[in-house]
Amino acid sequence: MKNIVLVGFMGCGKSTVGKKLAQKLKRKFIDTDALIEEKTRKRIKDIFKRIGETAFRQAETEVIKEIEDFDNVVIACGGGAVLRNRNVKSLKKNGIIIYLKADPSILFNRVKHTNKRPLLNTRHPEEQFYKIFSKRAEIYENIADIIVEAEEELDKVVEKILSFQISQ
Ligand code: S3P
Repeated sequence: MKNIVLVGFMGCGKSTVGKKLAQKLKRKFIDTDALIEEKTRKRIKDIFKRIGETAFRQAETEVIKEIEDFDNVVIACGGGAVLRNRNVKSLKKNGIIIYLKADPSILFNRVKHTNKRPLLNTRHPEEQFYKIFSKRAEIYENIADIIVEAEEELDKVVEKILSFQISQ
């Protein structure tokens, strides 16, 4: 069976929804950020701080390449994984891409109190958030096989995804 790949902006619930979905479908759950942390033995925010975004993106591409031939798993990607075409190609190789879509103001409210998002570690995080969102929104829409509104409770989002009966 094809993998289910969750994409979307920071705060859309990829990891939480992915974990729950995997449980319900009795599939293995993979979080690309967690794999990067395991592989590099560093926290994402430290990778950004010490070696920068380009090195992080490289590690992200390597991890995504490593899992491209997996089968029957649920994958939650970091929000920027879709920025490189080769990542998208790997994710689509054996995966159905689901975009968890939500209004940016809802997403910003979800992430504004955490310090886990290195891209928002600037003097004007809100401005930065909207700026990145506007660059990315189109990419998510374009690469998605399925778009799921993700503004409600995450349990409901899981139910919605299950209702698609993805079973190829
Ligand atoms: C990023 C999102 C993060 C993480 C990294 C970069 C991005 O993951 O991969 O901080 O570029 O949007 P989440 O989407 O899980 O926050």
